[in-house]
Amino acid sequence: MKPVAIVTGASSGIGMAIAKRLGASGHHVVLVARRADALATLASSMASAEVLAADLASEEGVAAVAARIERGADVVINCAGFGQAGVFADLDIARESDVLQVNVVAVVQLTHAALRAMRPSRRGVVVNVASLAAFQPCPYLATYGATKAFLTSFGCALDHEMKGTGVRVVTLCPGYTRSGFQEANGVPADHLPSMAWQTVDEVAETTMAAIGAPRAIVIPGWMNWLSSLVVGFVPTWMAAAVSARTVGIPKSAN
Ligand SMILES: NC(=O)c1ccc[n+]([C@@H]2O[C@H](COP(=O)([O-])OP(=O)(O)OC[C@H]3O[C@@H](n4cnc5c(N)ncnc54)[C@H](OP(=O)(O)O)[C@@H]3O)[C@@H](O)[C@H]2O)c1
Repeated sequence: MKPVAIVTGASSGIGMAIAKRLGASGHHVVLVARRADALATLASSMASAEVLAADLASEEGVAAVAARIERGADVVINCAGFGQAGVFADLDIARESDVLQVNVVAVVQLTHAALRAMRPSRRGVVVNVASLAAFQPCPYLATYGATKAFLTSFGCALDHEMKGTGVRVVTLCPGYTRSGFQEANGVPADHLPSMAWQTVDEVAETTMAAIGAPRAIVIPGWMNWLSSLVVGFVPTWMAAAVSARTVGIPKSAN
């Protein structure tokens, strides 16, 4: 029987690239996102895949994915995520709550389901997709950055707890990656030099290596890795100011 991989956020970008690689490496892949048509197109190009259309901002959506994980999973990739760029006080608070729901609450619940399902067989890997945004406060993406900081703290703690069980928790922290993310979430991107960017395939390649390597935090790309180190040496307020300049202030700012 093929090993089973469940990938959220598989309808585009990084999640789709990871799902393709998992399929090519012999997994049966469960493709999760809201856009069922995009998932069906992807599934039809893969050797063994199924579509699970679910809105991870809803309780029912998370429950459906958790139930599929409980039926058996060797790899769970929690990649679905989004943010809302702008001055926090100007943003739609219902959408900010959805950011928390998808980026944090759904990931906590699906990780819980995965660890309980994997522990008896003493094998399995959960990869939670955080971001380089996890390492410093992110003005104009404040809620998004905080959700990714949560995932990094959460994942490292869990990976420690699971030592000796055969089950691992990896937190993946990509930097700027060319996908639909920037346009969908209003994140300025044109001002950044090309060397700042990675492709979704580069990130997916690093993810595949991370599944087989005993590391709690994985940062794709040496420049991203260096920047995560440097930020540890400056005061938090200064890191926030640098982050604001790097992100580029959205037009809605004061
Ligand atoms: N691109 C970057 O620069 C970058 C950098 C660091 C980290 N990341 C992280 O990488 C992950 C993937 O981002 P990406 O770059 O691939 O962006 P993307 O192309 O916009 O993909 C986001 C994925 O999340 C899914 N999603 C969003 N809301 C959802 C919901 N309510 N329920 C279910 N699925 C939902 C989307 O599917 P549907 O719309 O079909 O539901 C889509 O498949 C995210 O967690 C993001 O925070 C991205």
